[in-house]
Amino acid sequence: MDVIGALRSRRSIGRLEGDVDENQIRELVELATWAPNHRLTEPWRFTIIRGAARERLGRLWAEIAGRDLPLTGEAREAALQREAAKLLRAPVLIAVSVRTDPDDVTATEDLAATAAAVENILLGAAGLGLGAMWRTGEMAYSEEVKAFLGLDPTDRIVAFVYLGRPSAEAPPPKARDVEAAVRWLD
Ligand SMILES: Cc1cc2nc3c(=O)[nH]c(=O)nc-3n(C[C@H](O)[C@H](O)[C@H](O)COP(=O)(O)O)c2cc1C
Repeated sequence: MDVIGALRSRRSIGRLEGDVDENQIRELVELATWAPNHRLTEPWRFTIIRGAARERLGRLWAEIAGRDLPLTGEAREAALQREAAKLLRAPVLIAVSVRTDPDDVTATEDLAATAAAVENILLGAAGLGLGAMWRTGEMAYSEEVKAFLGLDPTDRIVAFVYLGRPSAEAPPPKARDVEAAVRWLD
């Protein structure tokens, strides 16, 4: 797949199944690290969550989400199960995080570079015939989830990239409003 074709055809695919070969995961992480990064800070970290680790994180997340849940009994149980099952929407998740540099400008640029690294993973996955989806949700902003992943409290989770074999066609893309987004200065 050529780059322009990949840019146009990549879509978020929410339901992913099967498994992802470990070499493909390694390749996607390697592709991520080719993202531009100012002063070559290489600020990103990739935490692979698969197999039973998804279930452990799912249980932790359900416990966290359950604290603010104004439900009891069966309704509560069902809601907690739904939260835990979120982690099972793909066989592999890559948590992409960025360390926070004490210098604000560097921290901003590191965050931008890490977002570019995430896009490399999404495009790389499309190139490998895999489905992928960038998700954050409240889980990405939980201190306890960061601790589970072995991250520093000052790190930021930029994405949980869900990876797997697409279980269905992605819905057709919504047209982007290019004209509204561009200003020309001559
Ligand atoms: C920073 C970021 C966070 C996102 N978090 C979520 C999320 O939590 N849940 C979700 O359904 N999609 C999430 N998305 C995916 C967007 O919803 C998706 O890219 C958008 O709907 C466009 O669809 P496309 O990727 O197929 O073009 C996220 C995307 C970005 C860039």
